[in-house]
Amino acid sequence: MNPNQTVIMTHPLPEAWIQDLASKVHLVIGDDNATGISPSLLPYLGEATGIITLLCDKLDRSILEQMPNLRIVCNYAGGVDNIDVAACTQRKIPVGYTPGILTDATADLSMALLLAVARNLPKAASDAQAGNWKMWHPASWLGMELNGAVLGIFGLGKIGLAVGKRARAFGMTVIYHNRSRNLQAEHELGAEYVSFEDLLKRSDVLSIHAPNNELSAGKFNAEAFKSMKNTAIFINTGRGQIVDMEALTLALRSGWIKAAGLDVTTPEPLPTDHPLFKMENCLILPHIGSASEQTRINMAKITIENMLAGLEGNRLPYCVNPEVY
Ligand code: DGY
Repeated sequence: MNPNQTVIMTHPLPEAWIQDLASKVHLVIGDDNATGISPSLLPYLGEATGIITLLCDKLDRSILEQMPNLRIVCNYAGGVDNIDVAACTQRKIPVGYTPGILTDATADLSMALLLAVARNLPKAASDAQAGNWKMWHPASWLGMELNGAVLGIFGLGKIGLAVGKRARAFGMTVIYHNRSRNLQAEHELGAEYVSFEDLLKRSDVLSIHAPNNELSAGKFNAEAFKSMKNTAIFINTGRGQIVDMEALTLALRSGWIKAAGLDVTTPEPLPTDHPLFKMENCLILPHIGSASEQTRINMAKITIENMLAGLEGNRLPYCVNPEVY
């Protein structure tokens, strides 16, 4: 492998996670906390052979056009909606990603968010801290019980299945809507396949686990929220683009639904003056679905493995567009 070739990493990762790559190439690293590709990286775009991106970096045609020597793209994420994969494929550039390994971490976080919203944990905790815990109060901080409630899953792939299994352990009934039926899920969870309309109408908790694509983008609009139960809880740990944020704000404000828990938003980060931050029935997290130590290290391992394979002229072991080979 040519040690002089330049590989761009848009943001720093802990040194121990990337040393295998750092010792073999000229690794140029962007600034922490920069949104997208930092200005300090612009002089290297022309010479770079490879680029490692985070899900918050847009790698679109305009950037790709500035990278004539690019041979490998590796996204440190399970989703690739931040990358123009079609443009990469056209240029025969393989795009690596980190599928499969985020499943349990993201499913755990989905349940944590669901439980926190269902049982009013943020409000109860802040009341306790603020001195509003005057006595053991029979009618305060009441929430929804999961046993017997219906969980509706929008997008039942690996993560949806893992959430469904956890929900079953809490006594929930699972219904789901997908592009096509998932027979494994039906078998393992006793999950019922329903139309999108029925998913909206019947769910006590509706949880999104679909990727962001032309079919899912903007799917949860005002009409969708109006069709849901006014007691329903809405959870999104998938992608912010699937939800019309204005419609969600209106739905929570007008009581079309009861509460929401969001790990993803549009935009990200959500500006601190966004009205959703002021609403007691909305809990917002900074996109931490995969943020267990073990998973983030594994994501780095796979990303580096992908990049090294590509630089050595081999197939990327985790490649989203294998048709380039
Ligand atoms: C991904 O990798 O796509 C996840 O959203 C990260 O948490």
